[in-house]
Amino acid sequence: MISEKMEKAFNDQINAELYSEYLYLSMKAYFETLNLKGFVNWMNIQVQEEHAHAMGMFDYVNARGGRVILKAIDAPETDWASPLAVFEQILKHEEHVTALINGLADVADEVKDRAALTFLNWYIKEQVEEEESVGGVLATLKLIGNDSQGLLALDKELAARVFNPPVIG
Ligand code: FEO
Repeated sequence: MISEKMEKAFNDQINAELYSEYLYLSMKAYFETLNLKGFVNWMNIQVQEEHAHAMGMFDYVNARGGRVILKAIDAPETDWASPLAVFEQILKHEEHVTALINGLADVADEVKDRAALTFLNWYIKEQVEEEESVGGVLATLKLIGNDSQGLLALDKELAARVFNPPVIG
């Protein structure tokens, strides 16, 4: 059985993951307006990944006899100055999510919930990958600067990304 404190922490994180899904969906809409279909594809995969992150916790809370309580999802931003500005925000956002996941592991430590800690290991590793992949695109965007040919080449590269449904836990 999950403790009340752990249950609340997971419910808060489900909300944060759904917010991430919403944020990437808003970024997808932004890239649609720029007709950068590779960036659209990249965002679409992020949307699916964030949904999977939320559902992984949703299922975990239920498996441990807890109760999922959904709350309102904040409205994301809708506009950005440039693709670079989008990825600068994403990196900051993912670093924030990493801190939230670490906070969840701290709660698991505090209430001595070993099962939750083991479960959260997947998310801890996933955040390393998230930050690395976002950091890679951000570095390329910085190199590209105002070169539209470079931006189109990156768009082509991002179009090749495929979604592999994560196996969580
Ligand atoms: Fe759910 Fe992007 O971390």
